Amino acid sequence: MIRAFIFDLDGVITDTAEYHFRGWKRLADEGGLSFTREDNEHLRGIPRRESLMLILKDRVYPEEKIQEMMERKNGYYLEFIKEISPRDLLPGARELLEEIRAAGLKNGLGSASKNAGEVIERLGIYSLFDAISDGHSVERQKPAPDLFLHAAQQLSLSPAECVVVEDAAAGIEAARAGGFRSVGLGPAERVGKADAIFPSLAGVWLENLLTAIAA
Ligand code: BG6
Ligand code: MG
Repeated sequence: MIRAFIFDLDGVITDTAEYHFRGWKRLADEGGLSFTREDNEHLRGIPRRESLMLILKDRVYPEEKIQEMMERKNGYYLEFIKEISPRDLLPGARELLEEIRAAGLKNGLGSASKNAGEVIERLGIYSLFDAISDGHSVERQKPAPDLFLHAAQQLSLSPAECVVVEDAAAGIEAARAGGFRSVGLGPAERVGKADAIFPSLAGVWLENLLTAIAA
C-alpha cells in the first residue's frame, strides 16, 4: 500500500540541476580545470563537497582552499536561484504534487541540497510537502539511504509505503538501499535501476506512477 511519494528536487521538480552545473562549470573554468556536461551527469544528486572532489580528481588542495571553492560555487548558485519563481516548476510537477495530496497521500522532499528550502519556497510549493529532508538533515548523503529514511520517518511511514522519485543514479541507489520503490526520470543509462522510468513528470499522473511500479 503506497501512502507517500518522496521527491528529489534538483532535476525532478525544477531544473536547478542546470544551475548546479553552471556553478561548477564557472568554478572549473576559473581554475583551468576541465569539466563537461557529460562529467556533470555523474554529479547529479551528489553533495557539494563530494561533487568538488570529483571535479578536482586526484589534485590535492589544503582544506582552506576546498572550503573557499565550495563557498564560491555556492555563491554562483545562490545568484542563479535568486530569480526562481513558480514559472520554473518543471511541467507536471505541481499538478502531481496536488493530485497526490487530493488523493489523501503525502508528499515528502528528499534533496541533498542545503538550498532546497529556499528553492521550494521560491517555487511556491513549500506548503505542498508534509516532510522536508535536505542537505542539513543527515550526515551520509546519497547514495546512502539515510535522507529518504529521514523523510519516511518524518512522515511516520515505512520505506515499503513510500515511492522515491529521482533523476540521479545515486538517488535510485539510495532508494534501493533503503528498501523504497523508485521512479527514475531520464535516460535508462542514468536511472535504469529504478522500478519504473519516465522521461520527466510531464503528463505523468498518480495512476501512471502506481501502475508502473506495480508492473
Ligand atoms: C543535489 C544536486 O540535489 O544537491 C547536486 O543534485 C548538488 O547537484 C547537491 O551538489 C548539494 O546541493 P547544495 O545546494 O547543498 O550545494
Ligand atoms: Mg536530482
